[in-house]
Amino acid sequence: MKLRYILITPFLLFGCSWLPPEDEFIDVDSLHTISNFPIGSAVRFVPFKDDPALQRLQKHHFDSYTAGNDMKMNSIMPEEGVYDFSLIDAILAYTQETDQRLFGHNLIWHSSTPSWVKEKAQKDPEWLSDFMKRYIYTYVGRYRGAVHGWDVVNEGLRTKGGGYREDSIWYEVLGSRYIEQSFHYAHEADPEAVLFYNDFNTERDLEKFNFMIDMVEDFIKRGVPISGIGFQMHIRMDIPNEVIASTLRRAADTGLQIHLSEVDIIFNHHDDTRGGGVQKLTTLTPKMEQAQAQKYYELALMYQKLIPADQQYGITLWGFNDRDTWIRPFFGIQDWPTIYDERLQPKPALYGFLKGLR
Ligand code: XIL
Repeated sequence: MKLRYILITPFLLFGCSWLPPEDEFIDVDSLHTISNFPIGSAVRFVPFKDDPALQRLQKHHFDSYTAGNDMKMNSIMPEEGVYDFSLIDAILAYTQETDQRLFGHNLIWHSSTPSWVKEKAQKDPEWLSDFMKRYIYTYVGRYRGAVHGWDVVNEGLRTKGGGYREDSIWYEVLGSRYIEQSFHYAHEADPEAVLFYNDFNTERDLEKFNFMIDMVEDFIKRGVPISGIGFQMHIRMDIPNEVIASTLRRAADTGLQIHLSEVDIIFNHHDDTRGGGVQKLTTLTPKMEQAQAQKYYELALMYQKLIPADQQYGITLWGFNDRDTWIRPFFGIQDWPTIYDERLQPKPALYGFLKGLR
């Protein structure tokens, strides 16, 4: 394992230039065609379904589709008792027409749990346990064989350091067992689906990472049907490659599928909360663009070199242009974390990513 990293180090040290070709769009190679594993992006179906320019780029580059928000619980069941699968049916039709893998994000997440669920759960813990089972059976069962894999539990661990996330209704009412129970239910509903535990900052916060690995290895030992680890990978320019490499390598040692599930690379800082952005840089300079291209290149290269081919579930970008990136509205900062700019023109980052995948 160590040897592998030594082998890629020279690539990481020598800088290169990432200049776009003259004809910026048409001649750009397709990310997924060049890659040996699936390449995805998160998309919000509305307004995507009415945006031909965005669709053209999405079809060109990606063979895996993650719904930005549309598959979360508050979209499926905003009100008690009524499942609304209409948007997902439309998304499924789109992915089937365009031959893309549909990835399910996500089943259980504190942050997208509708308020009516939280209110009922507090009054009646048994109801929550029963609801979780019915929800997963109904949802995963409906898309059995159609949704390829799921983030079964998203962000079940504390924002920082080790430990379960306590500010989650699921943990508060059901205790940590809700995590493994969710995996059991999802597996019963679709035994072929690839089932992930997905979280953020696990590539850089070693305490959090170690807690996650202990949980995952305990699941494996006890036969909890987990098949993969999702690293959201919302990274910053200053997160050291050595740290990312060490966590990826250790995660691969579990033998599970590894998904870089929500990649973007930001320049500024934030404190992981909504509105918590720290605007350090206000203008994107050519030098910054080159550095970001290099970071996309290195990330793609690390994934390829450190994750064995049969564990490469793929790399998914959380949105692929700076116009639609979630980073700006969510953290309240101006940033440029993706591979296309606001005008849907390719950035050096795209060429860096392409080169890393090649
Ligand atoms: C984000 C969406 O992009 C935003 O539109 C929404 O306001 C909040 O959620 N980790 C995840 C994703 O797992 O579901 C989040 O998506 C980004 C962070």
